[in-house]
This record gives sequence, C-alpha cells and structure tokens, in this order.
Amino acid sequence: MYIEYKGKFYRPLHPRPTVVLGTLCKNGRVNLMPASWNTPVSEEPPTVAIAVDKTTYTYECLEYHGEATINVASDTQIQLVYDLGSVSGRSVDKVEKFSVELVPSVKIKPPGLQGSLAILEGRVMSRYPVGEVMLYIFEILLVRVLEGIADEWGLDLSKANLLLHSAGRVFYRVAPTKLFARKRV
Ligand SMILES: Cc1cc2nc3c(=O)[nH]c(=O)nc-3n(C[C@H](O)[C@H](O)[C@H](O)COP(=O)(O)O)c2cc1C
Repeated sequence: MYIEYKGKFYRPLHPRPTVVLGTLCKNGRVNLMPASWNTPVSEEPPTVAIAVDKTTYTYECLEYHGEATINVASDTQIQLVYDLGSVSGRSVDKVEKFSVELVPSVKIKPPGLQGSLAILEGRVMSRYPVGEVMLYIFEILLVRVLEGIADEWGLDLSKANLLLHSAGRVFYRVAPTKLFARKRV
C-alpha cells in the first residue's frame, strides 16, 4: 500500500551523495559550496549537472568564472560540509574561516578540496534557468580519485564512504555491503 507523501516532493529522493563545488570569485577568493542536487548527464561528452540556487555566491562566482571543481565528499568531511553550506562566501572567506586545505587543479583554475574522495575538474558547457536555480552542465575535463579507494566500477565503499545528505544537519553513510544481481537475460 502507498500513502501520499505530504512533505517536500524531493525528500523521497534523499539522502543523496554530496559534492562540494569549488569556484573562483570576483573578489579573488576560492569559494566552496556543498551541492547534493547533482547528477551525471552524458558520457559523450562527459557531463555532470548541478542545480545552483541563484541566491548563492557560488552562482555569482560561476557567472564570473565558468570553471569548478566537483569534489565528492567523504563521510569524514561531514562537519566541514555542513559548515560550508551554512554560510555564504559573500560575507566570509570560507577557506580561511574553516582552515580548508586546497589541492591545485591540473586543467582548470579553481582548486579542489583536500580529503574529498574524488575531484572532478569541470567547465560550464551550458546553463538552464529553472525556477530559483541555474542548472549548470559541466563538461568534465579530468577526474582524480584518492589512491586505493576506487576500481573500474567506482568507489569501493569498504575502503572509503560517501557522505549522503538527508536534510539540514542530517547525513547518512551507506553500510558497505556489496550486492550482486543475478544475470537473468
Ligand atoms: C549538504 C548540503 C547540500 C546542499 N545542496 C545544495 C544544492 O544542491 N544546490 C544549492 O543551490 N544549494 C545547496 N545547499 C545550500 C548551499 O550549500 C548554501 O546555500 C551555501 O551556503 C551557499 O554558499 P555560497 O553563498 O558561498 O555559494 C546545500 C547545503 C548542504 C549543507
């Protein structure tokens, strides 16, 4: 039996893997913003879509400089991710305030976030205004992962865990149980 869900429509789509967007801003700062509304889009070209609220400083920074690192958050980064999502780079230098360690990028200017499970380097390829957000499609120019935690199928959750965002201060991590479907056809 199904019952109508009276909460916000997107809640049953959470918890979601969280990334931290690293951008360059007009004031010369690097800014970092967590975003759980993210998804791969196409393989050729390799693209990732991220919904960025137009009130965020990250939106302004992306309009100023259309490159970003997409940092896949680890469960160990929970407090930093929450902190980065609780204040705007418009009023504070988050890198300084939270003593964030950055990783130089290879193909783009904005740096990555040290400790992330993976760092994707992206360049804005297209953008679509949808309601209160700008949906950015990033072409992915380079993908780097922390050594030893990923194989050809993706992250090995017995070696490092994803940070899934539920809502507000609530996060999850997955229990590392690998499941195999049977091949039936
Ligand atoms: C875990 C988490 C996920 C978030 N996901 C998004 C998102 O997908 N899109 C968005 O616009 N804001 C999202 N937010 C809110 C922004 O991160 C928040 O508004 C942030 O302070 C914006 O920073 P900025 O003004 O420096 O860009 C999220 C916040 C948290 C804590």
